[in-house]
Amino acid sequence: MTISLDKLKEIKEQFSKLDELKDEKRVILICADEECLSKGSREIEEALLEEIASNGLKDKVEVIEVSKIGHCEVGPEIEIYPEKVTYVNLSLEDVGDIVNKHLIGGEVIGHLLYTGTEEKVSELGSPHPKEVRVVLRNCGVVDPRRIEEYIARDGYMVLGKALTEMTPEQVIE
Ligand code: FES
Repeated sequence: MTISLDKLKEIKEQFSKLDELKDEKRVILICADEECLSKGSREIEEALLEEIASNGLKDKVEVIEVSKIGHCEVGPEIEIYPEKVTYVNLSLEDVGDIVNKHLIGGEVIGHLLYTGTEEKVSELGSPHPKEVRVVLRNCGVVDPRRIEEYIARDGYMVLGKALTEMTPEQVIE
């Protein structure tokens, strides 16, 4: 399949608006990296999705898998936005409280909060305080299962421009 630069711009336009809508939603980032997966994050994600659906919250809460939220030693870990609450050491038994108390009741669940002192840089998902992600800078911001979200953040635009508007010499320069 080929796609024109104009089509990319059209998708960007369309999904940028969806992105604004997403800002009105709650977003739960769940770590799906090796260490958290080995401690049951996939099962927790499935249970969360079920609990969200059974409470009629499917249109109001989005669950996005990300790699390494950052406190690997206390995973499984989630971050809830826009309030930016981080819950750690999660188990399946916590899912009901996360949905009923936090998402529905607006209550922060004290015993699940991350209380460590390790600082993270403001860039989401950087596993170490001094690490700044470049290639993975959209980690936790775009849903990796929807390429349109990447395009909405200028994904492929430079490639499109290089292939359609620039000469080989300009690309090399
Ligand atoms: S492996 Fe999940 S936060 Fe590091």
